[in-house]
Amino acid sequence: MILAIESSCDESAVALFDPSRGMAGEWVHSQVEVHGRHGGVVPALAAREHLAHLPALIGLAAGAAAGAGIDRVAVTRGPGLAPCLALGVAAAKSLALSLRVPLAGINHLRGHAWSPFIALHGGDPAGFSGRLGGLLPHLGLIVSGGHTLLLSIGADRRITELSSTRDDAAGEALDKGAKLLGLGYPGGPLVEMHAAGGRIDAFDFPRGLPRREDLDFSFSGLKTSLRYQIEGMAAEAVAARRSDLCAAYQEAVVGALASKAGAALGRAPYRSLGLSGGVAANARLRAALQAEAQARGLPLLSARPGHTGDNAAMIAFAAWMEEGTPGPGGMGVSIEPGLALCDR
Ligand code: KG4
Ligand code: ZN
Repeated sequence: MILAIESSCDESAVALFDPSRGMAGEWVHSQVEVHGRHGGVVPALAAREHLAHLPALIGLAAGAAAGAGIDRVAVTRGPGLAPCLALGVAAAKSLALSLRVPLAGINHLRGHAWSPFIALHGGDPAGFSGRLGGLLPHLGLIVSGGHTLLLSIGADRRITELSSTRDDAAGEALDKGAKLLGLGYPGGPLVEMHAAGGRIDAFDFPRGLPRREDLDFSFSGLKTSLRYQIEGMAAEAVAARRSDLCAAYQEAVVGALASKAGAALGRAPYRSLGLSGGVAANARLRAALQAEAQARGLPLLSARPGHTGDNAAMIAFAAWMEEGTPGPGGMGVSIEPGLALCDR
């Protein structure tokens, strides 16, 4: 049984994963309300919230694991907000010390990369290896508030970063766009909600780095273009056309993500496409990626709803997937706020 702790940003989360039976429990405390009042994540407040809530979540998980026992502790060591990571790692070290079990430091981005495969495990480790083998090599798209990148997972399970954003992440673009439109935080779900009644072709927003040869993303021009569009309109007109603005803006983000993923799929004989990170909750994005995958006869593996945004299940699962590979462990685990996907 693996107990995992995730506290890299604004979710305090603990999960229990039993490799022979599947995810055995998940405990989450979301800080969305606290940060919503400030229009974005405030690191010092986030750390205070983790300090207040992680112990109880760990207590609940430890209680649930009491019969079976905990064999390993895993914790996110980066990337993320330094004070938040530090609290998670300190808690994980205390727990591993008191239980006298090994501790693994896990890369949050590798958690997102493996998260679409959690459902594939489904509590059946015997068949998992074979099922996984049939889906590799895999192309993955991680879209969150802090990161936007394409990665591949080879037949040997090695993860390689193919491209990333040159400026804003996709979720950041949606959050900043929502702020410009006066919608609140976090912006992604609000833009999606308002976009429902709007026309995607009502405004012509630019797609960053449109050349298909370039797999990198860029969203800062899109955000600037929305700002100019809004500045050129009367406040009443912005309010009256909020749905159209959201629909066209969301479409520009989704279109850029789908077209880069499609271009990447054409470059190697991939056998599956994956989608994870907070923005993967967006139905329009899932549909667009489904179309890209289907056009090539490939399955789309989407992280399941509770596992798109930050969660501890993906940290436990990554710890299991990467067990036995060299990486930081024990009391030597340090925090790495700027950790890259390919680092451990
Ligand atoms: O993965 P995540 O929870 O945290 C980071 O690691 O960043 O992602 C948060 C991001 C935010 O930018 C939020 O606006 C976006 O995911 N998001 C969405 C939706 N739900 C969350 N974006 C678009 N549509 C959604 N339904
Ligand atoms: Zn994340």
